[in-house]
Amino acid sequence: MSYNLLKGKKGIIFGALDEKSIAWKTALACHAEDAEILLTNAPIAMRMGEINKLAEQINAPIVPCDVSSNDDMTNLLTKAKEHFGGGVDFILHSIGMSLNLRKGKHYTEIDYGFNQKTLDISATSLHRLLATAMKLDAINEWGSVVALTYIAAQRVFPDYNEMADAKALLESVARSFGYHYALKKHVRVNTVSQSPTRTTAGSGVKGFEGFITYAEKMSPLGNASAEDCANYCVTLFSDLTRMVTMQNLFHDGGFSYTGVTQSVIEQMEK
Ligand SMILES: NC(=O)c1ccc[n+]([C@@H]2O[C@H](COP(=O)([O-])OP(=O)(O)OC[C@H]3O[C@@H](n4cnc5c(N)ncnc54)[C@H](O)[C@@H]3O)[C@@H](O)[C@H]2O)c1
Repeated sequence: MSYNLLKGKKGIIFGALDEKSIAWKTALACHAEDAEILLTNAPIAMRMGEINKLAEQINAPIVPCDVSSNDDMTNLLTKAKEHFGGGVDFILHSIGMSLNLRKGKHYTEIDYGFNQKTLDISATSLHRLLATAMKLDAINEWGSVVALTYIAAQRVFPDYNEMADAKALLESVARSFGYHYALKKHVRVNTVSQSPTRTTAGSGVKGFEGFITYAEKMSPLGNASAEDCANYCVTLFSDLTRMVTMQNLFHDGGFSYTGVTQSVIEQMEK
């Protein structure tokens, strides 16, 4: 069902890798709500070619951008302004990459070179995006920026490795930059803390199947799906939430505030 919540709005969506990606579902949901979209991803991710399918489906141009490059970021936002004939109204930052996780390095023995890259791609990139947008005046008044995060920023999930630190930094950047962008142009910046979700990035975490099943049992509403997350992002891009900024918003079926559930107790009694 569509409510035309984003009619007349233009947005950039980072991170649609394949059909499972939260960004992919969000692009579809924004399109269904009448938004015009520009898609972007790292050049290396584009070589897989999947994103072209989505671009065709929603009639969106694609501009490559490695979020760890200042030049790429400037090029992306310049092209977006040219394409839309002005600034954008919303941006989804749906980007995560952990090099130590990938290379099987334990948290207590991480490689600091990898660590720096993880923090740059997964967290500092939000600062780079907002700083470049502010410099180029690429986001319209009352625009909305959402970055996706995970509760490992607040609580320990041992196998999430240095991504936990990256998410803590990401949430802090959203708060700090959100303050400055609100004063400058009423632009809102929030993070959405999503349930574990079966995607390429999600499934890269060691023991993911056990992890997602546990979260399902610990959430009174069950895990939130990628489609649910996409719908939540639509509301945050819409004018209905215009006074919400600098928040970390849990979108997790109640997991974050649950001590224990009956289902977990029964499991422990077996
Ligand atoms: N899947 C989960 O369980 C889960 C839970 C909570 C939060 N999240 C977050 O949601 C976001 C999206 O992840 P997803 O689960 O949809 O997985 P995904 O693998 O589909 O998306 C991750 C994206 O990051 C992009 N990326 C990586 N390095 C990049 C770079 N240098 N420049 C530009 N883009 C780059 C990838 O190409 C990919 O499109 C991430 O921030 C992730 O941490 C995921």
